[in-house]
Amino acid sequence: MFTRSAGGETMANNMAKKTNGKIRAGGTGETPAHLRFREVSHEEHRELRDILLGLINAFETCNLKGASKLFSQFCNHTGPHFRYEEETLHPLLERILGRVQVEHLNCEHDRAIVDAIYLGKLTSAKRLGEDQARQGKRLVRRILPHVSDCDGLAVMVEMMSEAEVETILAAREGALKDNVALLEWASKVRPRSFRDTYQRDYYATRRQARGYG
Ligand SMILES: [Fe+2]
Ligand SMILES: [Fe+2]
Repeated sequence: MFTRSAGGETMANNMAKKTNGKIRAGGTGETPAHLRFREVSHEEHRELRDILLGLINAFETCNLKGASKLFSQFCNHTGPHFRYEEETLHPLLERILGRVQVEHLNCEHDRAIVDAIYLGKLTSAKRLGEDQARQGKRLVRRILPHVSDCDGLAVMVEMMSEAEVETILAAREGALKDNVALLEWASKVRPRSFRDTYQRDYYATRRQARGYG
């Protein structure tokens, strides 16, 4: 794909060299902290992807027991994950992505939380009808693209300094140690308010899904 110069170097290499000093100013992207972040973050997103695809399958086959089990896995997984992202990754990304894009990432979490409350209601019901299964599938499909969007952020993390990436990894350790599941974290620990995004949905869904969130 890349054109070769007379010296045999690819255009991609030349471009990388030209922009190297400027863009890579924040970090090398290759320190042990960067490599570790890439590894753990990718692994977490893969797990989350599998849980969500499993949930879609459980809804498609109206497997209520399976859906309910996967839903708790989803909450246990996303509690610490969303937490360390919001506490360190998102603020550190502001310098690179800008405030608007970071706000978008936080909004995606807001919506996933509201959807999770409703999924909790659906998966804890006595039976799973066709309508509920369709609704559940729709909600899971809405969460799914955030997984790949979020996984792609690793390429931006490469632009951070080693110390910044270490801060993210330490926050991750802390969140995993506290181990607060998604809906409990959202209602008791998370400082962010739903005021500017899904406030009405959040409270309405909580009312409907009594006992969840
Ligand atoms: Fe993520
Ligand atoms: Fe995220």
